[in-house]
Amino acid sequence: MKILGIWGSPRRGGNSEILLDAFLEGAAQGGAAAEKVSLRELKISPCMEIYHCFKDGTCPIKDDMRELYDKLLEADVVALASPIFFYGVSAQAKAMIDRTQALWSRRYILKQDFPGGDRQGVLLCTGATKGRLLFVGARLVTKYFFDAVNVRYAVEILVRGVDEKGAILTQPEVLTTAANLGQRLARGEVLPPIKLDPLAV
Ligand SMILES: Cc1cc2nc3c(=O)[nH]c(=O)nc-3n(C[C@H](O)[C@H](O)[C@H](O)COP(=O)(O)O)c2cc1C
Repeated sequence: MKILGIWGSPRRGGNSEILLDAFLEGAAQGGAAAEKVSLRELKISPCMEIYHCFKDGTCPIKDDMRELYDKLLEADVVALASPIFFYGVSAQAKAMIDRTQALWSRRYILKQDFPGGDRQGVLLCTGATKGRLLFVGARLVTKYFFDAVNVRYAVEILVRGVDEKGAILTQPEVLTTAANLGQRLARGEVLPPIKLDPLAV
C-alpha cells in the first residue's frame, strides 16, 4: 500500500505539517509505504496554459512536477495537507493542482487508461478562524483535483481555530484521529462513500 502525503504549507513545523505527519506515522505503523512530498522544497511552476497536454497528456514544463506525476499515478492513497490561505488552499498546493491538468487531459481528452478510481483521497486542512464556510474553497478545489487524478474523495479532517505554529498540538484528539485514519487506510480499509456538499462546512 503506497500512501502519498502532499504537504502544501510554506511554514515548516506548522499545523498542517503536524497533522500530515500524524497521518503518515499512522500509515507507516499500519504497514504502508508512506511518503511525504513537501511542496515548499520543490520547484513547481504554475500551469502556463500551453495545452501541450491535450496532445499527449504530458506537460512540457521541466520542473519537479515531473516526478510528482508518477507518484500521483502510483499511490493507492493520496493525502493533501494545506493551510487555508484566503479561503482556499495555499499557492504551493494550487500550483501543483493546476499542473495536474496534464493528468486530467489523459483521462478526459485523450481517454487513456488510467489507474483506478478505487484509490482513496484525503484532505487535511487547518485554518485560523471558526467561520462556517472556511473550508468551502479548499474542498471544492480538492474534489476536482482528486477527480483529475482519479482518486475518490474519501475523507477529510478539517481543523478550525488553529493559527500559531503548533497550535494544533492543543487538539491531541485530532492528531489521534489522523493517525488512526492513516493506519486504517494502510491496512486497506475502504471508507464508505461520502456525499460531498462543499457548502455544508
Ligand atoms: C497568507 C495567509 C492567509 C491566510 N488566510 C486565512 C483565511 O482565509 N482563513 C483562516 O481561517 N486562516 C487563514 N490563515 C491562517 C492559517 O490558515 C492558519 O494559521 C493555519 O493553521 C496555518 O497552517 P500551517 O501552520 O500549516 O501553515 C492565513 C494565513 C496566511 C499566512
